[in-house]
Amino acid sequence: MKQNMAQKLITSHLCRPADLIIGQELLLKVDQTLTHDINAVMTYLAFESLDLPRVRTKLSVSYIDHNLLQIDNKTPDDHIYLQSVAKKFGVYLSKAGNGICHTIHYTRLGKPGEFLLGGDSHTPSCGALGMLAIGVGGMDITTAMAGFPFRLEMPAIVKVNLEGNLNPGVSAKDVILEMLRRLTVKGGIGKIFEFTGDGVKTLSVPERVTIANMSAELGATTAIFPADETVREFLKAQKRETDYKEILPDSGCKYDEEITIDLRALVPLVACPHLPDNVKTVREAEKKPVQQVFIGSCTNGSYSDFKKAALVLREEKVDENVSLVFGITSRQIYLKLLEDGYISELLNAGARFTEFACGPCCGIGIAPPSKGISVRTCNRNFKGRSGTSDAELYLVSPEVAAATAIKGTLATPDEVMGDLSVLAYVHEPNEYPVNDNLLIPFAKDGSEVEITRGPNIKPLPVNTPPSNNLTCKVSLKAGDNVSTDDITPASAEFSSMRSNIPALAEFAFNRYAPDFVSRAKAYGQSIIVGGVNYGQGSSREHAAITCMFLGVKMVIAKSFARIHKSNLINHGVIPTVFEDPSDYDFIDQEDELNIENLLQQIKNKKITINNLTKRRNFAVNLDISDYYVDILLHGGLLLFIKAQLREGE
Ligand code: F3S
Repeated sequence: MKQNMAQKLITSHLCRPADLIIGQELLLKVDQTLTHDINAVMTYLAFESLDLPRVRTKLSVSYIDHNLLQIDNKTPDDHIYLQSVAKKFGVYLSKAGNGICHTIHYTRLGKPGEFLLGGDSHTPSCGALGMLAIGVGGMDITTAMAGFPFRLEMPAIVKVNLEGNLNPGVSAKDVILEMLRRLTVKGGIGKIFEFTGDGVKTLSVPERVTIANMSAELGATTAIFPADETVREFLKAQKRETDYKEILPDSGCKYDEEITIDLRALVPLVACPHLPDNVKTVREAEKKPVQQVFIGSCTNGSYSDFKKAALVLREEKVDENVSLVFGITSRQIYLKLLEDGYISELLNAGARFTEFACGPCCGIGIAPPSKGISVRTCNRNFKGRSGTSDAELYLVSPEVAAATAIKGTLATPDEVMGDLSVLAYVHEPNEYPVNDNLLIPFAKDGSEVEITRGPNIKPLPVNTPPSNNLTCKVSLKAGDNVSTDDITPASAEFSSMRSNIPALAEFAFNRYAPDFVSRAKAYGQSIIVGGVNYGQGSSREHAAITCMFLGVKMVIAKSFARIHKSNLINHGVIPTVFEDPSDYDFIDQEDELNIENLLQQIKNKKITINNLTKRRNFAVNLDISDYYVDILLHGGLLLFIKAQLREGE
């Protein structure tokens, strides 16, 4: 049978034969995992508790790339713990200074045809190499490292037909912003976007990364580009051509949906505050004074991205009211830019530099001023994402960001450059400087390795199985599109607390609903009510763990974002959806709800809830597989895996 690329990648990883029908639960063998410092401590604490001597994946990598600020013991404690635990259990460690996880992974370690599970929502970046690359929460990574298959409900496969080529000054960022404009942040839920057409051949691997990376903002399962001649050339330039394997769709294969984007028709776009799908053309967007421009992140962090920004800035200077900050994504890219003279050009234009790390895009290191406007090449612009709750974030391409830094207001490159054709001749290098000495190998025999556990590392809280009757109050009634940033705030202050759940839980919903924590604590047990797309955004499982820690037993929403829904299940919190969404209007915060015979109702996947305050019954559905039902009945994934390992003994 003729197959598209997604079907090929899925079929080659099936643990047992299955029909690839939309919604069918599939068991997939995981080849590679990745984690990063601000989410990973809980993942490895959970792995430690399984008493396994080694991870059971082909390749697992622990990246230290997100919070490198060392203002007290917290982040150094985390980093040293992660290094020692990696050495012991057979995990490579990418040390601070090597670069951002997704950049290092696609440049140095990703392999066409393999299945990567990443503890970060932008893991689809590696889809640019022809990998199946899916972002999940930390407990799913623990499970994969323990050798269990990953369970995936077969997504719909959307063919994205790219035609023609981009005009100079228009970039891959504009392709994904155009998709967000058309499809919205919910448009990719339950879907894989597979890119084909002549236009794909005109895009370099890093340009494909930009698009695949932000498929996460569409809510998609992942995005896949062909592993074609462009990928082979890229791997050759990285001195690892032997990792190449061709992955192409069979001609005449079928797709569930299809969209077409004419690259020639695109113009520079901008995602305006506070959602990535609030997209306008740069020309039509309001021209307010900008205080900060940031160029970098896993979305736009390639050699070509920085070189294009440097060409826009050539012989220009940064507006005196703008702070222009570059976050070069990896040591390799920095060295190449240095060798080719672009770092000095950027310095001469008046740019500042951060470490080769994530930082600014998750509110670490570079926050805008109060009520400030920051124009960024990142992937998210949620309220508070930058660390400043009343700032406005605009998402653009590197070319637009550089032009904006010169003008002091949003600007397209042609407003500051006489001739844009120079941008059309920017290509990735034929050869990259390769030095992997910050990729630390694990010990041959981990049994002798001692784990270093500083005071910032607190035990992982574990839930208990649900009781049969639940009577509790609604601790929060939230609206639509609640993000994981709303639940557990981003920024340096909070990310360094992620190894200490009791401390972090004090700040749950701190910007969204400042009285939530005191209410949840007073209630002991409680239920959260949400609108559509509850839990969108990052894969941060702390958003689920902190709520679980505060006694939240169930979330009732109109719909959930995929990763947050599994994180809730993984930590034993029941994610239900209103059978009739209008019932949302009949519940208020502080209402008392009662559920009888909960265990059987979980098994039935349909739960009747009695609103004692309003004297009214309503139904909610548990739209999950039998496997997830089993996990909920165990009280979460960790208890479930432990039971499975005991049974296997
Ligand atoms: Fe890092 Fe920002 Fe990407 S936090 S992984 S650069 S979304």
